[in-house]
Amino acid sequence: MTLAQLKHLAIIMDGNGRWANARGQARQDGHEMGVDPVKQVIKYCLEHSQINTLTLFAYSLENLERPKYETIYIEQLLLRALCANISQLCEKGVRLKIIGDLAGVATNVKKQILDYVDLTKANTRLQLNICFRYSGRWHIMNAMNSITKRPVTEDDIKNYINNDLGDDPDLLIRTGGELRISNFLLWNIAYTELYFLDRYWPDFSVDDLKGAIEHFNQRQRRYGKVENYVE
Ligand code: IPE
Ligand code: IPE
Ligand code: MG
Repeated sequence: MTLAQLKHLAIIMDGNGRWANARGQARQDGHEMGVDPVKQVIKYCLEHSQINTLTLFAYSLENLERPKYETIYIEQLLLRALCANISQLCEKGVRLKIIGDLAGVATNVKKQILDYVDLTKANTRLQLNICFRYSGRWHIMNAMNSITKRPVTEDDIKNYINNDLGDDPDLLIRTGGELRISNFLLWNIAYTELYFLDRYWPDFSVDDLKGAIEHFNQRQRRYGKVENYVE
């Protein structure tokens, strides 16, 4: 039996808008309240040395179809959250990566974000991938475009995508109750363990994370093979 070992955790942080709606508040308040669980999850990962990569789905390319003010709000929130926490992240050895199509982001915002990324690039304790303006299909398309005209192999795509994100996630958690992937890590989750939680992201706690990890620890990861057979 291949024992489950959690090195790369990925999360679809869903349910912010519904969290706010349920309280008669603006959707933005839900996004705002979503920052604290992110901090708790990062802290947890830093306290558990086997976890070396955390990938968070913060905004999708499809989310750009939302009202402009929501898109701008999220962008500003990301910037604010990074600004407030970057020195601590850096100190703790976090390497920040922002993965997504930043082409439409205002030049000054983009520069600030990339400066933060640059600041942490030598860190090695935990790679924090923030998927922002991201889509799984976009990522695969980029991989294809980076490869020259020769026939593309599975390893070509894997190398490109894993160079951005690290090895494939071991565990993917989605909050908010939806049982779908919503164009998150399509390539990388071929053998990832999936955990869906019917709780809005702003209410996500370390106990929820522990529950997900306990569930993960009981998984048998077979990768399509059978165990203990005799030829
Ligand atoms: C997830 O929460 C965060 C983002 C997509 C930015 P949502 O904003 O999708 O919240 P719901 O799903 O509408 O409740
Ligand atoms: C997925 O959630 C994207 C993020 C959490 C950033 P969505 O809210 O966009 O997904 P759908 O629309 O419910 O599929
Ligand atoms: Mg949603």
